Amino acid sequence: MHGMQQVTLLDFGAAYTQRLARLIRDANVYCEVLPYTAPLDTILAGNPLGLILCGGELSAALPGAPQAAEGLFACGVPILAIGYGLALMARALGGETRPLPEHPGADEECEIEVKLAGNSALFAKAAASFRVRGRAADHVERLPQGFTVTALCADGCVFCMEDARRKLYGAAGHQDMGEHPQSIRMLHNFLFAICGCAGDWTTETFIEACVGDIRARVGGGRVLLALSGGVDSSVCAALLHKAIGDRLVCVFVDTGFMRKGEPEQVREVFTRTLPVHLVCVDAADRFLSQVEGIEDPEAKRKRIGAEFIEVFAGEARKLGRLDFLGQGTIYPDIIESGAMPGATVIKSHHNVGGLPKDLQFALVEPLRYLFKDEVRRVGEALGLPAGMVWRQPFPGPGLAVRVMGAITKEKLHIVRESDAIVREEIAAAGLDRSISQYFALLTGTRTVGLHGGQRTYSHTVAIRAVVTDNFVTAEWARVPHDVLARMSARIVAEVPGVNRVVFDITGKPPASIEWE
Ligand code: XMP
Repeated sequence: MHGMQQVTLLDFGAAYTQRLARLIRDANVYCEVLPYTAPLDTILAGNPLGLILCGGELSAALPGAPQAAEGLFACGVPILAIGYGLALMARALGGETRPLPEHPGADEECEIEVKLAGNSALFAKAAASFRVRGRAADHVERLPQGFTVTALCADGCVFCMEDARRKLYGAAGHQDMGEHPQSIRMLHNFLFAICGCAGDWTTETFIEACVGDIRARVGGGRVLLALSGGVDSSVCAALLHKAIGDRLVCVFVDTGFMRKGEPEQVREVFTRTLPVHLVCVDAADRFLSQVEGIEDPEAKRKRIGAEFIEVFAGEARKLGRLDFLGQGTIYPDIIESGAMPGATVIKSHHNVGGLPKDLQFALVEPLRYLFKDEVRRVGEALGLPAGMVWRQPFPGPGLAVRVMGAITKEKLHIVRESDAIVREEIAAAGLDRSISQYFALLTGTRTVGLHGGQRTYSHTVAIRAVVTDNFVTAEWARVPHDVLARMSARIVAEVPGVNRVVFDITGKPPASIEWE
C-alpha cells in the first residue's frame, strides 16, 4: 500500500500463510501476500523490508517442485524461508538437501523436540528448547556457504539455519506455525530486530493513507456504490465518504429479504450518523414477484441476482455522469483468487459484478488491503455503529434462501420474526461474539400440534448456529439448552403459524451453513 512500510509473504502453498499475514498485521506491520510465481520486480515493487517464504511440507527435491523467482536470494532484502522455503534456499545457495523417508504415520501428528544452538537474533528472548507439532520433509545435508545451524531437532536434523551477514534465515515448518509461541517470537524478531520495521500500521494510519489514495485515484470524479448494509459495503461507503464527500453516491436497494430492522438501520446510519448522498429504492414487491412460485434454490438465487442488477442499473442511469464503481472487495478475496496487486477482482457474490455494458466503470476498492477484522476496526474508527460493524455474515439473497421452497409474504414474515428472536436471545445470553453465525429458517415442513386444545397443522422453524474461523468448515454451536428453550418458547408464542422449533446439529461438511 502506498506510503506504508511493508513485508511481503510469498505463498508456496502453505496452510498457514494467511495466519502469518494476520499476525504480522496484528503486530502493526503492513504485509502483502504474493504467489510464489510472482517475478522479482513485482516482489520488490513495494520496497519490502523483509520477505517471508511460506512453504508447506513438500520436498524441495521432488521433480517439478515450485521454484523461487530468479535472483530472489541475492536481492539484498532480509529473508525468512519457512518449511519448504528452507530447503529451497539451502539448494539455491549451494547447499544439499535430501527428502526424509515417509513417516509411517505421516497423517498423524508427531512432535519434534527442538534445541537452540548458538545466538541467533531470530531467537532473542526465546526458550532454549521447545516442542512443535509436525515434521520436516527435507534434511539439510550440507549447509550453503556462510550459513550456521541455529536450532536442531532431537534427531539431528536442521531446524533453523542462517547467514546473519546476508540476513538470510531458514526455519523448518511445523503444523502450529503462527500459533506456537516460539514461532510468534521468531516472527516478531524477524520483523523488528532483523528487518527494522517500525510497527506503524494502525487503523488511523491506514485511514489517512487510504483517503489519500482514493483522492488521488478519483480526482474530481463521482463514485457509485451499492450499499447493502453489510460490513464491507458500509465501511467502504464510510471511507469513500470521508475522502470525496458528496461525490460518492450510494444506492441502497431494499429487496424485502433483509432481516428485521436492517433497512431502517441502513437509512438511519447513512442519513444521520454519516450523511451520504443516498438513494433508497423500495423494491420488495418487484423481488417477491420474481421469486413467487419458484421452488429451486439456484433458480431463486439467479432471479434475485438478475433483478438486483436490473434495479441497480435503472437507478444508476438516472444519476447522471458517474466515473467509478466502489467495491467492498477485501484482502482475502484478492489472495484467494490468486490475483496480483493491481489486478481487478470482483467478488462473485457482490451483485454488481454483472452490470450491463453501458455501465462499466473503473473500480475503486478501498478495502482491498484489509482483512475482515481490520475492516471492522476501520468501520468503528469512522463512527459506524458496533451492531453494523460486527454484524454476522448474511447471504446476498437474504431471507429468500432461508425460506425453503416457494416464498410467500406470510413465510417471509415468519422467518424474519423468528430470526429476530434468535438474534435477541443470543445477544441477551452474551453469545453474539462467540458464535460465528446464527439464524432461523423456515424448513418448508408443516407438522401436527396442539394449541388451546385444538389440533394445529403449522410450520416448523429451524435454528442454525455455527462456530467457524473461515466459513469453509464449521461446527454446530453448542448453544446452552436454556437459551434454546427460551428461543423455542418465544417463537411458538410470538410468531403466528409456527408450532414446532428444531435445532440443526450438523457440521459443515457434510451440511452447508445455509440450507439453500
Ligand atoms: P454455505 O451455506 O455455503 O455458506 O456453507 C458459507 C457462508 O457464506 C454465506 N453465504 C453467502 N454470502 N452471498 C453472500 O454474500 C451469498 O449468496 C451467500 N450464500 C451463502 C453464508 O451465510 C455463510 O456465512
